[in-house]
Amino acid sequence: MIKIAVLVSGSGSNLQALIDANLSGQIVGVISNKPEAYALQRAQRAGIATAVIEHKQYPNRESFDAVMHQQLLDWDVDLVILAGFMRILSAGFVQSWQGKMINIHPSLLPHYKGMHTHQRVLRTGDAYHGCTVHYVTAELDAGQALAQGLLRVATHDNESSLAERVHALEHLIYPQVAEWICNGTLVHTPQGVLYRGQPLTEPVQFAKL
Ligand code: GRF
Repeated sequence: MIKIAVLVSGSGSNLQALIDANLSGQIVGVISNKPEAYALQRAQRAGIATAVIEHKQYPNRESFDAVMHQQLLDWDVDLVILAGFMRILSAGFVQSWQGKMINIHPSLLPHYKGMHTHQRVLRTGDAYHGCTVHYVTAELDAGQALAQGLLRVATHDNESSLAERVHALEHLIYPQVAEWICNGTLVHTPQGVLYRGQPLTEPVQFAKL
């Protein structure tokens, strides 16, 4: 059974969706860089081990990441799921978990990498928005996209309504991708990503139009 660690910094609604999905893998631990993150309470309620590793207590990114790396090894983790984890990871850490670490980003990547995605979508006047699950690579929000949730931007949408709708999509697609990895439907190989035994050429699409 695949052992999963979830890295969080905040509310952890995606962590909750992963817990509620009863994955065929096991969430063995949750790491937060913030002691006040509500996600920690969600993990504790579900009987999952937690670790608080405060980035502020370390002189640089590498030393913080080294402690996280050791915790992941101690838990014997196969898959790292970033769920609202608000730290940029060092190249060495990312390299160690290459092909074993996924993130969810609130935009249709490669559009709108980085922050404030809903605001930027509204300013541009895009017709569509959504979220992307992707492998984590050293370049921010640039790893291979595995799945995307797509929604149509309505004329009455504002930042908070978009955020809410994107979040609902995230809760749908993130547990689905995690389950595909747990049950072998989606496999990372040195030759590329296989989905249902075939090379994954573009992200699997989920639409809520
Ligand atoms: C989500 O919007 C996700 O796309 C981004 O961080 C947010 C986390 O939300 N990476 P939550 O803590 O899971 O509620």
